[in-house]
Amino acid sequence: MARSPRWRELDPQKLSPEARRLKEGLLARVIGQEPAVDALTTIHQIWRSGLADPNRPIASFLLLGPTGTGKTRMVEALAELLFNDRRAMLKVDCAEFSHSHEIARLIGSPPGYLGHRDTPPYLSQENLDRHQTRENPVTLLLFDEIEKANDALWMLLLGILDKGTLTLGTNEQVDLTRCLIFMTSNVGADHFDRMHDSPLGFQRGAAAAPPDMAQVSDSVLEATRRIFSPEFLNRIDRRIVFNSLGAVEFKRILELELGYVRQRVRKRLDVDLKATPAARKWLLEKGTNPRYGARPLRGLLESEVLFAVANLIGSGQVVEGDAVQVDVRRDGGGLVFRAQHASLAAAASRGGGATVGGGPTGSALHPVVESLAAGRDLLPAGSH
Ligand SMILES: Nc1ncnc2c1ncn2[C@@H]1O[C@H](COP(=O)(O)OP(=O)(O)OP(=O)(O)O)[C@@H](O)[C@H]1O
Ligand SMILES: [Mg+2]
Repeated sequence: MARSPRWRELDPQKLSPEARRLKEGLLARVIGQEPAVDALTTIHQIWRSGLADPNRPIASFLLLGPTGTGKTRMVEALAELLFNDRRAMLKVDCAEFSHSHEIARLIGSPPGYLGHRDTPPYLSQENLDRHQTRENPVTLLLFDEIEKANDALWMLLLGILDKGTLTLGTNEQVDLTRCLIFMTSNVGADHFDRMHDSPLGFQRGAAAAPPDMAQVSDSVLEATRRIFSPEFLNRIDRRIVFNSLGAVEFKRILELELGYVRQRVRKRLDVDLKATPAARKWLLEKGTNPRYGARPLRGLLESEVLFAVANLIGSGQVVEGDAVQVDVRRDGGGLVFRAQHASLAAAASRGGGATVGGGPTGSALHPVVESLAAGRDLLPAGSH
């Protein structure tokens, strides 16, 4: 009698090489949010296997948790990895839709309404398909601060989550089944604030007792149940509570952000920017805090480092090929910049350092400086 072949034991957790690459890319860009990265990687794998429900969006995520902890950054990182451009997404700021007539900006107005032709709907099929590529036929659609959405926007969201379609003002149907939908909300984030206020403090990686993330996470989810309707919550595939960030994560984020600034300055102007440990400490103290997360860091780097370097170049104090050192002023009240050229004598003749306390000085900027200062985005598109 023929014996049946042996059963092979399988590992459902194993990732495809593509999913592994995605996971590594997300982990390298978004610090301290492993559970969120895992959830995203799993959904990506389900989508790639072709097992996602064809009659609904590929997946929908509710991203919760404190401000400045990487919720929006996570979606940007995904866009970078899929399309080489962190802005390759459609983003709806729900706070901008506090009146129901404003919904026309998303779906257009019915024919006959005044101006229906001059407001092309943001959620048109053309816009939704804009960033899709052959390798990644997917759209990232982000609804920020959904708790601020008005009733009309809620109805629209419910329809999208349920059926993956949307009817425009012109009665045209838009297909959203190739969308990954992200919704962010700070609902319940005050539970994190209470932890910061607790006498034990809240610094992951520091000596204080570790916060009970599971408990805070439960409280946040409980808060969402009080604010959002069950019809809505039941349509969401994953609810993810982002971790509050601590000293260890802030340090890694500073290195990342400094890396982006260095890369940008080097690429455009061949200037090598270095920060001393004291400058790093100063930037961390000024640019991060448990309540606002890492959000202030980017602006601080821009105003205190990037604009300053731009001005130094504009005024001819720094030239191509220079190395620029960022240090802390002796009195600790600001940063100081020193330059060194390939020939040290040239650097010496330019004198010591220029002290920079704030942003640009307001003087007319050199064209190169202007282009640097104008770019709000510290990361050049497509570079990582
Ligand atoms: N976990 C993180 N990893 C890397 N960078 C981060 C992280 N969290 C925050 N940052 C930095 O802070 C900036 C702001 O973060 P982000 O926009 O993701 O905040 P958010 O969680 O969406 O906050 P909000 O709820 O206020 O919208 C990012 O652009 C990035 O520079
Ligand atoms: Mg955000």
